[in-house]
Amino acid sequence: MILPNMKEAKIRTNKKVNISKYDVDSKYKNIGNNKKYFIKTYGCQMNVHDSENIKALLEEMKFQEVYNMEDADLILLNTCAIRENAHNKVFGFLGRVKHLKEIRPDIISGICGCMAQEESVVNEIKDKYKWVDIVFGTHNIHNLPSILNDSLMKRQQEIEVYSIEGEIVENIPVKRDSKYKAWVNIMYGCDKFCTYCIVPYTRGRERSRAKEDIIAEVKELVEKGYKEITLLGQNVNAYGKDINNGEYTFGDLLRDIDKTGIERVRFTSPHPRDMDENAINAMATCKSVMPHLHFPVQSGNDRVLKIMNRKYTREEYLYKIKRLNEEIPGISITTDIIVGFPNETEEQFQNTLKLVENAKFEGAFTFIYSPREGTPAAKMKDDVTEEEKHDRLNRLIEKTNEGYLRGHERFVGEIVEVLVDSESKNGDGMMCGYSKHLKLTHFKSNDKSLIGKIVKVKVTEAKTWFMIGELVED
Ligand code: 5AD
Ligand code: SF4
Repeated sequence: MILPNMKEAKIRTNKKVNISKYDVDSKYKNIGNNKKYFIKTYGCQMNVHDSENIKALLEEMKFQEVYNMEDADLILLNTCAIRENAHNKVFGFLGRVKHLKEIRPDIISGICGCMAQEESVVNEIKDKYKWVDIVFGTHNIHNLPSILNDSLMKRQQEIEVYSIEGEIVENIPVKRDSKYKAWVNIMYGCDKFCTYCIVPYTRGRERSRAKEDIIAEVKELVEKGYKEITLLGQNVNAYGKDINNGEYTFGDLLRDIDKTGIERVRFTSPHPRDMDENAINAMATCKSVMPHLHFPVQSGNDRVLKIMNRKYTREEYLYKIKRLNEEIPGISITTDIIVGFPNETEEQFQNTLKLVENAKFEGAFTFIYSPREGTPAAKMKDDVTEEEKHDRLNRLIEKTNEGYLRGHERFVGEIVEVLVDSESKNGDGMMCGYSKHLKLTHFKSNDKSLIGKIVKVKVTEAKTWFMIGELVED
């Protein structure tokens, strides 16, 4: 049993990051013969992509995926720790798993992802959820075959959670959910330690993959016909700062990825502090890099930004927005905002509302601050009432919704290129996909062969959450 330790998870050294190659031990290859697995994923794209790795590992062991939990022999929850409600959802879902296990005790149940890195969660599982068979952390994914094997052989709860800075394991197999859009990790972890955030503790230190490994992965995706990749990293644009003495950074990587011939490149999430001129220039000059940026600001008040340890001011943030608009005319910018950070005053909140106007965001993920055990902000006294926090959130959402609509209205009458995803849920005979600026676009067609292709659509109508248009023949 290897339990998590939040103090150890915080340690950062200058040691060179170990890069190893994954290779499944043949003795585990038949563990899943005639067995089915169900995996439920919570949280960010990093977790979604981790689940793609977990699925492929399980399928190497001959498990088969099912989409109905009731049909599964192995049930895994890939969890998120970012806010309290993510926690609650997982514990709520565990109740359903327990119920199933009472009927079929041979079911193997497991928890992985960011919650598995939290001491308090794992202690609770160890003491009160003894029926959960396996728990493994974000640094232990490649060990899943041996963890599963041990659990089956010993018939006891197996917990393996390393609280380390982290290494890089290449060659972990991947079962991608899509045939034309792919996630590509370029770096892992976070060293920023924003005072509200649990991620630096659950995901380890910032560590970049070798550019050769990234480029090889993208080239393979191009050969397989993938149209769009999204580069992933907790601090995606800190790429390279931990290797090569920082001589080859995110902007350089974008330029090399552009040369592979991939049609569309997106990335998430960048930190404003690491958004340098080289990255902005690469975004402007690389044809494949899409004119949309998710650019988390968190607050529009300098004092709050300082206590959050964001390491930029409102002015510095707005300067970067200005530079982005100058270099990439028409760029669409979205953001993340937290309201109700400990002791946030009405005036400070007003600064955030004002910044939303100034930055002309075309979308935002908005959150009420949620204290996370072990983070510095969780120890701060807080005099903002729950009622006030909800009220601020509502006022903020009202403002950011205006941005969504404005971001759609500006395309009415224009022709946009849409990568088609699916039939739309909105009405009969409609299909939908995303434009270059990441605007959800619906258009009349029932030609399913368009899925995975890029089509031209003339926008005729703008709504808050999407645009409507007509297919334009080439
Ligand atoms: N409470 C509320 N929101 C949070 N986020 C991160 N930590 C917290 C927290 N403790 C938000 C930030 C981040 C996004 C992924 O989640 O806005 O950018
Ligand atoms: Fe969390 Fe801040 Fe790191 Fe983003 S930059 S993952 S908000 S600590």
